[in-house]
Amino acid sequence: MDDLESFADEIRSAETVVAFTGAGISAPSGVPTFRGDDGVWEKFDEGQFTYGRFQRDPEAFWDDRVGLQREMFDGTYEPNAAHEALAELGRTDHLEAILTQNTDGLHGDAVDAVVGADDPEPAILELHGNSQRVRCTGCGTRRDGDPIFERAANGDLPPTCDCGGVYKPDVVLFGEQLPGAVIQRARTLARESDVFIAIGSSLVVQPAASLPRQAASSGATVAIVNLESTPVDGAADVIRREDVTDVLPQLVELVTDSA
Ligand code: APR
Repeated sequence: MDDLESFADEIRSAETVVAFTGAGISAPSGVPTFRGDDGVWEKFDEGQFTYGRFQRDPEAFWDDRVGLQREMFDGTYEPNAAHEALAELGRTDHLEAILTQNTDGLHGDAVDAVVGADDPEPAILELHGNSQRVRCTGCGTRRDGDPIFERAANGDLPPTCDCGGVYKPDVVLFGEQLPGAVIQRARTLARESDVFIAIGSSLVVQPAASLPRQAASSGATVAIVNLESTPVDGAADVIRREDVTDVLPQLVELVTDSA
């Protein structure tokens, strides 16, 4: 199946459509991706941001994390046409869930902007958490991250909660387990999907990158929208080597126009 029309037909007739996204869907919004020429991991060492380092040396971890947060989230990023296309697919009841590796919160912003109070909307599972929040490792309180990053940028290292616990960015760090309930639900959605669309991800980080294969082995039609090849391409029925902001609005137009 190589044309978008027949893929749109698949989506229209599917019971359960699931989208899986990575940094590539937010790249057009200005959020840097992780790999590739200008990737975050060309400028920062992943080893600085492991869970082990956070536990061993939270002060040094936070000192580096402030720099990473500035690099990744220095602007006020807006959702782009690709985020909005997925939100529209949800609003028209053609998208069950968005499983995202991204921690930028842009899918939630797009759904808030596109979906009305009485409309259907896709579930959003933030597999790697959300960089806009922090969580206290003592009492578990979650709160807006901006003031805490501000404190850390001004030398309050590591920033601590009133309870005395050290704050941690509310993201899954390298070497840290994904929350069990989240990954279990994501695996169930992948297995139950009739159509699974992997968008803007290099599909190299586990366990998230195993989801498209799980969908394929359960009989789903798997599509990959990505500018570069991925290790999962062999399991895909549809591959679109195009920009997310070109192909997703076109696809959604085809799905919803002839609905
Ligand atoms: N349209 C389509 N694809 C794009 C676009 C675009 N406009 N821009 C970039 N891409 C593709 C790139 O070709 C690349 O293959 O998006 C992919 C992004 O890959 P990564 O930078 O590896 O991001 P991701 O797959 O989300 O990384 C997974 O790794 O570092 C960890 O926790 C981090 O969640 C992240 C995980």
